[in-house]
Amino acid sequence: MTRFKIFFGLFVAGSLSALFAIGMARTSVRASDATPTFYRDVLPILQQHCQSCHRPGEIAPMPFVTYAQTRPFATLIAADAAKRAMPPWFADPSVGHFANDPSLTQSEIATLSAWAAAQAPAGNPQDAPPPKHWVEGWNLPRVDLVVKMPTPVAIPATGDVEYTYEIVPTGFKEGKWVQMSEIRPSSRENVHHAVVYIRPPDSPWLRHAPIRVPFTASDMTGEQDKHDTHTTKADILLVYAPGSSPDNWPSGMAKFIPAGSDLVFQMHYTTHGRATTDQTSVAIAFAQRPPTHRVLTLQLTNSDFVIPPGDPDHRVEVHGSIPNDALLLSFFPHLHLRGKKFEYNILRPDGTVQPLLRVNYNFYWQLSYRLAQPLPLKAGTVLQAVAWFDNSKNNPHNPDPDAAVYWGDQTYDEMMVGFFDVAVPPNVDKPQFFIRGDGGAMQH
Ligand code: HEC
Repeated sequence: MTRFKIFFGLFVAGSLSALFAIGMARTSVRASDATPTFYRDVLPILQQHCQSCHRPGEIAPMPFVTYAQTRPFATLIAADAAKRAMPPWFADPSVGHFANDPSLTQSEIATLSAWAAAQAPAGNPQDAPPPKHWVEGWNLPRVDLVVKMPTPVAIPATGDVEYTYEIVPTGFKEGKWVQMSEIRPSSRENVHHAVVYIRPPDSPWLRHAPIRVPFTASDMTGEQDKHDTHTTKADILLVYAPGSSPDNWPSGMAKFIPAGSDLVFQMHYTTHGRATTDQTSVAIAFAQRPPTHRVLTLQLTNSDFVIPPGDPDHRVEVHGSIPNDALLLSFFPHLHLRGKKFEYNILRPDGTVQPLLRVNYNFYWQLSYRLAQPLPLKAGTVLQAVAWFDNSKNNPHNPDPDAAVYWGDQTYDEMMVGFFDVAVPPNVDKPQFFIRGDGGAMQH
């Protein structure tokens, strides 16, 4: 019996290689139909899950666009796919479904493994899907307007850099609805984060600050202006951190920039031993129809904590109730180097917890998580954010396990911010959204 099986196996293998040889003679590259090929099976996966970063000019060091570029990485691609190390995604799969989850399916992982195991055959170029269309330099499918910081910011070779602001008037004669937007630093390695705020013409925020030139808190003379460089209630157009993806709101939903607004860039730069400059831009695609909902970015923040030296699992919590009905759209957790885990929950009146998102936090990959189905929240719903910090020496990113750590701007300080986006009626702005009768205190 055993001998028969072995014989049978040899027989099949022999026939296949004979067929293969005939195929080779005719078309030069023809693996068996079951063997995945680059053009037919692998390239569609790369286009859909990898090329947003793995193409020339993007954040990944090697492009996976052509066969020649991809072939040398076949084994590594299969291994990273199997470990789910790539594409980067940190949400616990047992909680929630997310529209921007780039994870590969089991069958896609199997395809990449089988392709690598078969020595990464090219296959027939005619089987290739049409090349994916990318807007040069952006990850948006369409760009209507690019707003660039007018004056380059000089970044020193070493030391801390204070948060740097630049205010750019839009000159919009009428209110504009923004469907999609994306932030691009010009010196990517120096940008720890960027926030683009919307400053309507009637806002008192940073009113004495200069226009179109960089400034920091130290450049401000008045107390109010100094204070304004640390806190604002202005709405956010979008937030950028390494690995973050562009905003693309569901159809019918958009951010609103009132006529005559300024865009305020808040830049946190880090230094890497070489003086340079940065001139960050934001690309905008306007909504093509008047939307049915306005998107607001809100945040749950706890700035009042101390992480003891060496503590491997320090928990910091914050919650607040939603002042008015809203549709919950997405999350963007923000911690610094000691960040370990982040959760968003609904605390129900009966004391139970409804988990919305659980993230294994990775400082080097700050991602947003967009709910596959927007979640209606009733006024009074209590939203909670919880962060855990690892201040032990086992955290490879920990700059100083002997320090007690407080809230602060620099990465050796900590932050605890749970940004989240909600959709509200189109005529409701951020101050109006926070007007309510129950006297609750949600931070905004
Ligand atoms: C969000 C951006 C992004 C996406 C999407 C992405 N990658 Fe990457 N990838 C990177 C970056 C950045 C690096 C280099 C730094 C690192 O290894 O973390 C990298 C590195 C790699 C490496 C080399 C790792 C090593 O061990 O040297 C492989 C292989 C890889 N990616 C495969 C893939 C595959 C396959 C996909 C799609 C299924 C993918 N990546 C999707 C950003 C991305």
